[in-house]
Amino acid sequence: MLISRLEIRNMRKIKQAEIDFHGAGVQMIEGMNQSGKTTIGQAIAITMNGQKDFTPGMIARGEEEAEIVAWTDNELKIRTVMAGSVRQSVARYDEGLRRHINVAGGVRAFLDSICSGLEQPWALRDVPDADVVEMLMSRSGASEKIAAIDAALAEREQLRTETGRDRKRLGDPGKPPEKVEHPDPIDGIKAEREKALNYQKAYAIILVETKGAIQKAVSAACTFEELEDIVPLLKKEAGNGRDKISPFGTYAKADVEALESKITEWFETEKKAKDYDAHIEKKTQCDNLDKQYKVLTAEIETLREQRRKALADMRLGVKGLEIGEDNMLYHNGVLRGITKSEKKGNWSTSESVQVFFGMGARFAGEMKVLVVDNAESLDAKTIDTITQWAEKVGFLVIMLRVAEVPEKLEEGVIYIREGEVLKK
Ligand SMILES: Nc1ncnc2c1ncn2[C@@H]1O[C@H](COP(=O)(O)OP(=O)(O)O)[C@@H](O)[C@H]1O
Ligand SMILES: [Mg+2]
Repeated sequence: MLISRLEIRNMRKIKQAEIDFHGAGVQMIEGMNQSGKTTIGQAIAITMNGQKDFTPGMIARGEEEAEIVAWTDNELKIRTVMAGSVRQSVARYDEGLRRHINVAGGVRAFLDSICSGLEQPWALRDVPDADVVEMLMSRSGASEKIAAIDAALAEREQLRTETGRDRKRLGDPGKPPEKVEHPDPIDGIKAEREKALNYQKAYAIILVETKGAIQKAVSAACTFEELEDIVPLLKKEAGNGRDKISPFGTYAKADVEALESKITEWFETEKKAKDYDAHIEKKTQCDNLDKQYKVLTAEIETLREQRRKALADMRLGVKGLEIGEDNMLYHNGVLRGITKSEKKGNWSTSESVQVFFGMGARFAGEMKVLVVDNAESLDAKTIDTITQWAEKVGFLVIMLRVAEVPEKLEEGVIYIREGEVLKK
């Protein structure tokens, strides 16, 4: 389907214009600067894309309403009225009724189904790679898939960075120390020492008590007979003392020292066992982090491969055209490289033309119309290539180009002067 005729009323500088197109091939539209050429391109874009491409400044100053009627070579009539917003209707010629009947099922849906979204591929030359890539993804239905992969990739990469950082923080686990088992619990030895200390305390107290009792008996004796009787008394008191200490056990000084050194030894062994445990724990942590890092790396590689595949499956419609991992466009390995802030690639004009027309063809709907604004920057050879291509694939390529209007109007060229499309 091609646009065969365009009628424009009250759009920017154009009060009234009727333009007939000749069919597939390149249609030149020429005029001086500010004559209204771009306006014609915009009229086609609004016809196809409606509200999306409309700005209020498009209505001629002093007018309330602008109108575009586009006719196609298969008898469709697309009427667009721009006032505060855009209203569109599409009608099809009915042979039987001999008049145009509005298409059913929604105008926007119908127009979306036939338009390409790339009506002005040449305009893409100044659009950053990222925007072109995004548009290609959405046109080909790959954007959701790639967005999901990108989200997963970002998550894995973040995790991997954290894992790497944690691993670095742990450092080298070093050589393992001597393996030492934990000693049995210390409670028994400590209780034994407690008992020994209690024994010694009790011994000292009871000894003092016993000595006190004996001294009292000695002082109380007044006669030799009484002193002689004291000996068995002493033995008895000493015996009582021993009976009193007996529940506390029997511990020599050496026993206490032995218990003390047993406790010291226990703590030394326990420390070695703990050092060994700590080493094993650190080693395990390091091993786990190393393993996790490897798993994440493998997952990232798989996701990148999936992304490459999803991009390859998009079928960009242009031989040699690829979207790199950097989200930039490459054609036969040459970087296009236009970002929002710089141009770092080096596609030639003919390369851009080739690529964008290829994409235009790939993503075109039934409506096979492409608009090239500012076509004065294309050389004759490139125009020739585009002409051959357009005729071959059945596209109408409308080129808007700055040129002086000649005295004698050339056949096949449409001229515009001060908003007026000239009639032969
Ligand atoms: N709303 C408007 N009403 C009247 N003239 C307008 C309006 N908007 C833009 N213009 C005029 O239209 C001209 C630009 O038209 P344009 O299609 O961009 O020309 P070209 O592409 O040939 O350089 C300018 O002269 C500008 O002053
Ligand atoms: Mg222009």
